[in-house]
Amino acid sequence: MSRKICLVTGGNAGIGKAAAVQLAREGAEVFIACRNRERGEAALETIKIDSGSAAVSLVNMDLSSRESIIRGCKSIRSAGVRHIDALIHNAADFDVTRKQPRMSSDGVETVWSTNHLGPVLLTALLDPELSASEQGRVITVSSQGLMMHPQLQVNLEDPEFSRGGFTVERAYYQSKLAQVMYTFWLADRYSGTSKTANCIRVTNVKVDLDRYPDLSDFKKRLYALKSRFSISPEEMAKIYTWLAICPEVSGLSGKYFDEKRRTVGAGSWAENPGNIRKVMELTRRYVPELSAGGKQS
Ligand SMILES: NC(=O)c1ccc[n+]([C@@H]2O[C@H](COP(=O)([O-])OP(=O)(O)OC[C@H]3O[C@@H](n4cnc5c(N)ncnc54)[C@H](OP(=O)(O)O)[C@@H]3O)[C@@H](O)[C@H]2O)c1
Repeated sequence: MSRKICLVTGGNAGIGKAAAVQLAREGAEVFIACRNRERGEAALETIKIDSGSAAVSLVNMDLSSRESIIRGCKSIRSAGVRHIDALIHNAADFDVTRKQPRMSSDGVETVWSTNHLGPVLLTALLDPELSASEQGRVITVSSQGLMMHPQLQVNLEDPEFSRGGFTVERAYYQSKLAQVMYTFWLADRYSGTSKTANCIRVTNVKVDLDRYPDLSDFKKRLYALKSRFSISPEEMAKIYTWLAICPEVSGLSGKYFDEKRRTVGAGSWAENPGNIRKVMELTRRYVPELSAGGKQS
């Protein structure tokens, strides 16, 4: 069997970096997709040392930018990659210090574009490589925090909050809800193919506060308190690794897993086929490439 090839977005920090180490240790060839070359290169060195593997590479990719995602995919192909066995959509924009929406280079609100549209575009563009794998696995990442927002729906009229109502929490949880729904949609489109799509519900995981120098003292204290009830990135990454390369989950698709590998529900609104269709119609307006990679809807 050829060596597994895994791509982890946001692999320079936190859970993504821990997953890259674990996957490399397990013998996979790993690509980390990072928006900042300097941070990416520094992480690359640590991942190689910690995993004892040299088969780790950096792809420069800003998930909020179409052009950057397209360029990143080209560079993966130029590196000779012909198949991808696991694509892990780990990167996320969640800057709690932000008070106003920020626009990407494409003119789209960055939480929506980084956390939802970027992964959708990346999956569509890498469809030939995922299809060329024995079993291409797409893994999306959502949040346990969604449970605190049981009434939340994707704002189908104004997902970027351009008419007001923006808070970074609202935008973040909306994007994570959309990712769960996208996973269900993708799994359905993949049925009858060798590809699978599953989503991970990440629990409270320790965050490196040095990454957020602009946090207020109050928020720093809050995070420090929260971290006492959080698991380590390494612990959380084990579920990424399990879903990415373990033979025991081969063929499993359309599931939503917690950190203990249990399948969990996403709530009645997110599981409703009509709502999933509406969210994906909305998504297609931003990502026309969405049709790639499965049966036609
Ligand atoms: N930690 C938790 O308690 C928690 C809870 C629920 C869900 N999650 C989810 O788990 C995943 C990993 O979280 P984490 O705690 O490991 O976070 P983290 O340490 O803050 O790492 C986030 C990663 O995403 C990258 N990123 C952000 N915007 C990007 C962009 N536009 N393009 C490319 N990369 C970008 C960051 O790169 P930079 O270094 O350039 O910023 C970083 O590598 C995320 O999807 C998050 O939503 C985490």
